[in-house]
Amino acid sequence: MDNLDRFGRKISYLRISVTDRCNFRCVYCMPPRGVPWRPHGEILRYEEIVRVVRAAATLGIRKVRLTGGEPLVRRGLADLVRELSEIPGIEEVVLTTNGALLSENAEALAAAGLSRVNVSLDTLRPERFREITRLGRLEDVWEGILAARKAGLVPIKLNAVVLRGVNEGEVAEIAALAREGFKVRFIEWLPLGGVGEADPGWFVPWEEVRARVEGALGPLRPLGVQGPARVFSLPGGGEVGFIAARSAPFCPSCNRMRITADGKLRPCLLSPLEIDLKGPLRAGATQDELVRLLAEGLRTKPWAHGAEAPNDRGMSEIGG
Ligand code: 5AD
Ligand code: SF4
Repeated sequence: MDNLDRFGRKISYLRISVTDRCNFRCVYCMPPRGVPWRPHGEILRYEEIVRVVRAAATLGIRKVRLTGGEPLVRRGLADLVRELSEIPGIEEVVLTTNGALLSENAEALAAAGLSRVNVSLDTLRPERFREITRLGRLEDVWEGILAARKAGLVPIKLNAVVLRGVNEGEVAEIAALAREGFKVRFIEWLPLGGVGEADPGWFVPWEEVRARVEGALGPLRPLGVQGPARVFSLPGGGEVGFIAARSAPFCPSCNRMRITADGKLRPCLLSPLEIDLKGPLRAGATQDELVRLLAEGLRTKPWAHGAEAPNDRGMSEIGG
């Protein structure tokens, strides 16, 4: 079946938030007390996720990313990875994680068929790491990253959200990790879900991050656009990318749709438009009906840049 949307974009990538819960409370993602977790009954069960992905595969989805919240706080994630990776048409199952629980899970995930991991890493300083994540320990995450590398979940992408007055001075050190085989991605902060609504002045445009990296490490050579990222090679080797979620549109190269933790198809991160899948799933929808709902998402997927970031939900529910 056809996976082109009405702007001619080929949609081959599905991001699934498997839980809205998280063992961190990153300052840019959640208010200090966290957000009220949804009761388990509101979250898609693994067998429901498998049904959705089977339907998506018939529509041309080839890559699935599990995200959250923190996907590894959900029990039995490796079992889900195994089932998804066995679905005909699904070529890659990958994971975005904060890394805290990765050291004890990396091997089982790799054995279950996981291809790669992206790990959020906003700072290399332990005290600052605690300040940003409120609950995390840098040491655990670094152990997790090394375990993932050992398990072959490579190339590992390291995601850093750059915040003015917090970690902006560290971007060159973080970029230098690209020389050690990690792919580094700098992400512009998005004021989603009302977090930071008073605007703490966190936003740093990607060009400024680029200039800081170049000032310290030398000129970056453009390699092109990969999904939402502008990717560059670093003098001395390695790859650094910038996700200008706010200052520069990536709608033209968008290749994805999302499933929220509570089972809504969200065609675009930046648009509150959602199509309910959980209701139909629990009311006995057939696979054909699921395929039709997903196709409706494809048909209605918007071109959302220029719009204000929506405040209907935070990143931990939508899936970063
Ligand atoms: N703006 C930009 N990126 C965010 N992330 C979480 N919240 C935000 C936000 N408001 C990032 C996480 C992680 C990825 C899944 O999304 O740091 O790297
Ligand atoms: Fe958790 Fe990721 Fe949000 Fe941090 S950014 S609180 S790790 S979901």
